[in-house]
Amino acid sequence: MENCDEAGLSTRFGGRVMKIVVLAASAQSKSVNKNLAAHIATQLAGRYGSEVVLPDFKQFTMLAYDGDFEAEVGVPEGAAQLAEALQGADALVLCAPEYNGGISGALKNAIDWVSRLQPHPFARLNILLTGASPGGLGAVRGLWHTRVPLEALGAHVYPDMFGLGRATGAFGADGSLQDPGIQRQLDGILEGFVAHVKRHRNG
Ligand SMILES: Cc1cc2nc3c(=O)[nH]c(=O)nc-3n(C[C@H](O)[C@H](O)[C@H](O)COP(=O)(O)O)c2cc1C
Repeated sequence: MENCDEAGLSTRFGGRVMKIVVLAASAQSKSVNKNLAAHIATQLAGRYGSEVVLPDFKQFTMLAYDGDFEAEVGVPEGAAQLAEALQGADALVLCAPEYNGGISGALKNAIDWVSRLQPHPFARLNILLTGASPGGLGAVRGLWHTRVPLEALGAHVYPDMFGLGRATGAFGADGSLQDPGIQRQLDGILEGFVAHVKRHRNG
């Protein structure tokens, strides 16, 4: 892999490297979104020299939003842990599955619970939306729905999105994307996003 400093792709700024959380919003172990998240994490760490955190969504267990529970107990531990994972991050890359043409219930529920914390970590957070699905549309319809609550919470959701269709066979045994054209498309989006985050965090 090329040296990120020589290639002008380094995510070093203000005397430190950019910290990016890459989160696959899927609990299942054989997850195409986890495959995509692992690949993006490898790219961000290797090509851009970022500090990457790759949490497991399954660790953030929480009941469906319940106002009585919140009044009596507070925000569930899983939601508090998710908020903590996002705290101090310069950016979040979300790899989100599409359910019935929209956002998955588990992800929307997690966003709703985390939003109950004051302050919550989505305000002004730079977010790149990506998604993968075994079908041809690559979860993009779900990404449009995912954008709505995040923008409502004041996140800076990057305009471009990346949807990976036919994702079940898209990765080789080493985790790399098999189609060079799709890899180039992802490179372009990641490059634009990290440059955008750098400008935003510097300014
Ligand atoms: C309730 C449900 C609804 C789904 N709806 C869609 C859909 O609208 N579009 C789509 O491309 N895939 C849909 N799928 C298939 C998912 O894309 C597939 O299960 C995928 O593997 C989920 O991502 P993951 O592997 O990262 O968990 C749906 C799956 C479930 C369980």
